[in-house]
Amino acid sequence: MAARLAMKDVNLRFGGITVLHDVGFDVDPGEIFGLVGPNGAGKTSLFNCISGHYKPGSGSITIDGQEVRGQSPAKMARHGLARTFQHPALQLASSVLDNVLLGAYSRLPGSPVEWALRLPRTAKADRAARDEALTLLERMGLGWAADVEADELSHGLHKSIELCRALMIHPTLLLLDEPAAGLSHGEVEQLIATVKRLRDEDGMTVVVVEHNMSLIAEITDRVLVLDHGRSLMTGTAAQAQSDPRVIEAYLGVPDAA
Ligand SMILES: Nc1ncnc2c1ncn2[C@@H]1O[C@H](COP(=O)(O)OP(=O)(O)OP(=O)(O)O)[C@@H](O)[C@H]1O
Ligand SMILES: [Mg+2]
Repeated sequence: MAARLAMKDVNLRFGGITVLHDVGFDVDPGEIFGLVGPNGAGKTSLFNCISGHYKPGSGSITIDGQEVRGQSPAKMARHGLARTFQHPALQLASSVLDNVLLGAYSRLPGSPVEWALRLPRTAKADRAARDEALTLLERMGLGWAADVEADELSHGLHKSIELCRALMIHPTLLLLDEPAAGLSHGEVEQLIATVKRLRDEDGMTVVVVEHNMSLIAEITDRVLVLDHGRSLMTGTAAQAQSDPRVIEAYLGVPDAA
């Protein structure tokens, strides 16, 4: 089941700096929605507000109509939200499999004490999660890397491992922060196919922050353009690319056309 995301009049301040000014947008269930804008526009901060890493001072954020503003990241995972980070945050000294498994723990049964004692129901859940993680790694073409230490792998593979970890949450809403940054052309093509499959076959709603406009044009239904923490416009990627306000925001000069 894909989730509906709605944000209304969200404001985020750090001391005297307002990072997001009255930002609002809606994402329909099953939509692939792009969030674009120049460096420092507030894209990652906006993701942090949705995922519970930042607490906006005002406004509303709902998932399937339920108010979630200010909830913790762990609670947001229980609302079906998963995300990746602009800079992959992996346990580099652990195996790929153990990194991917971390995504499952937010939804597995049992208290920390039960896990520490490895009681039967946690041991069974752990075995099932390991099987699922291995199947997922196979599906993403990474089965060969399950036992490899994350540290030994490339940046592109770190991005894929992080995506697998997010998918172990069984998300209905997936936030991807610059998933194509630093990837080779071939890796970007693979990423495009994967994101489309997650929407078409797994029924997820996806919000993607990206500077790669050809990826945005290829996969998104609509985009929101942010600039200096303000919403500039919402529309298709093609509309955004030809909008004089957007061109000015990127180039820093008024559109000469
Ligand atoms: N924890 C924080 N404390 C203070 N300022 C912050 C914090 N997080 C973000 N900011 C500020 O908010 C603004 C937006 O940053 P953000 O990282 O959200 O931009 P972005 O659109 O993701 O940029 P990029 O494309 O470079 O990743 C920046 O001016 C940044 O310095
Ligand atoms: Mg960012």
